[in-house]
Amino acid sequence: MDAFVIRGGRALKGRVKVRGAKNAVLPIMAASLLSDGVCVIENVPILRDIVTMSKVLEHLGVKVHDVGTGTITIDGSGLNDHIAPYELVRTMRASVLVMGPLLARLGKAKVALPGGCAIGTRPIDIHLKGIELLGAKVKMGRGYVQVSSRKLAGAEICFDYPSVGATENVMMASVLTKGTTIIENAAREPEVQDLAEFLRSLGAKIEGEGTSRITIEGVTSLGSTTHRVIPDRIEAGTYLAAGIITKGRVTVDAIIEEHLRPILSKMEEAGAHFEYHGPSITVSVPDGLRPVDIRTMPYPGFPTDMQAQFMALMTITPGTSSIKEAVFENRFMQVAELNRMGADIRIDTNTAIVNGVKQLSGAEVMASDLRASAALVLAGLVAHGETKVSRIYHIDRGYDEIERRLKTLGADIRRISE
Ligand code: EPZ
Repeated sequence: MDAFVIRGGRALKGRVKVRGAKNAVLPIMAASLLSDGVCVIENVPILRDIVTMSKVLEHLGVKVHDVGTGTITIDGSGLNDHIAPYELVRTMRASVLVMGPLLARLGKAKVALPGGCAIGTRPIDIHLKGIELLGAKVKMGRGYVQVSSRKLAGAEICFDYPSVGATENVMMASVLTKGTTIIENAAREPEVQDLAEFLRSLGAKIEGEGTSRITIEGVTSLGSTTHRVIPDRIEAGTYLAAGIITKGRVTVDAIIEEHLRPILSKMEEAGAHFEYHGPSITVSVPDGLRPVDIRTMPYPGFPTDMQAQFMALMTITPGTSSIKEAVFENRFMQVAELNRMGADIRIDTNTAIVNGVKQLSGAEVMASDLRASAALVLAGLVAHGETKVSRIYHIDRGYDEIERRLKTLGADIRRISE
């Protein structure tokens, strides 16, 4: 397995270009199952999760070309299966997003239950409630969920919680469903909005995405399209955090400022200074960092996917900050590892209290979930001495060439196999 070896202490300077958003590409790839046409998806990052989703689509009979060059082409005409197998779904929860499109296109789907992962049990009850309200029969058993329906019909669906995946699955299940479907308390994330944009470019009738009420008018079929995916706001936030934690000066290109707003405002509150030049943003920390309290929320609140990275910033910020993880039940996997690097963090139910320390020290640490691993890399960039982050396959799931890009910013980081 690969590991990163990082020598801390360098102020990062320079610029990186943000790649396409992983969490927009994955639902859009699943949505290509809805059409028997050809979907060309541009600005696709080279990530393990994208390869996994391609394997799921190919297992279903759909041809996926050019994975790995930034543009992928998906030909939905070959769809000939409705089962998403456990060996693929267990490696990536997002595989469950094929349920809605398979139900819409074939009238049935059998998907392995994603099970839990490092950040919690992550059930799919909200997905299934929406699918049932559209008229599907739901059967669970032997680690699979089966949904089927001879005739789906538009429905009014009110979510108990604005789940990103459930909003995406129900949107995809309803675009070919006769009648009007309304999703109340829908997720408002930019990635949900990008999926709606993609579906509309295929011929779907959707409005209200980005608000908590999405309305879909069913159509009889969908065509072909070319769609450029939005930039990854979490990747952008992670590189900005790298500039902040090393007290350097980093420019991130090709961002959409509005998508970053919740992250930028908290970073500004902590003492970061931003210069805006159109689709680029430059961060520096003129007068040092101040402690900040954060609470993760659905968009447009502070994103849970930036919680661990922000915690890394607070570990060396003089004073006490509190970080409440209100989206997932167990997303503090980075705490024990950061404390092994000399951080002073204690957890009180789902709130982490961080007392800033003068200096972190390099150590051997282990990656767990994608964003916790990014936090360990950030800590390594500023720690005294050498840090080895092992099991970095977690990072390769969501960050495209992170070590090469950090190196261009002046970081002393290298990948080794161990
Ligand atoms: C998406 O996951 C993202 N993944 C996650 O990013 C992100 O952290 C999350 O949204 C929140 O923004 C993708 O888009 C592929 P949810 P998703 O359904 O859809 C509970 C990353 O690092 N819930 O909004 O699974 C759930 O347990 C990943 O890139 C139910 O209880 O998130 C969680 O506590 C990690 N029942 C909360 O809602 C359900 O049916 C938020 O989950 C569904 C969700």
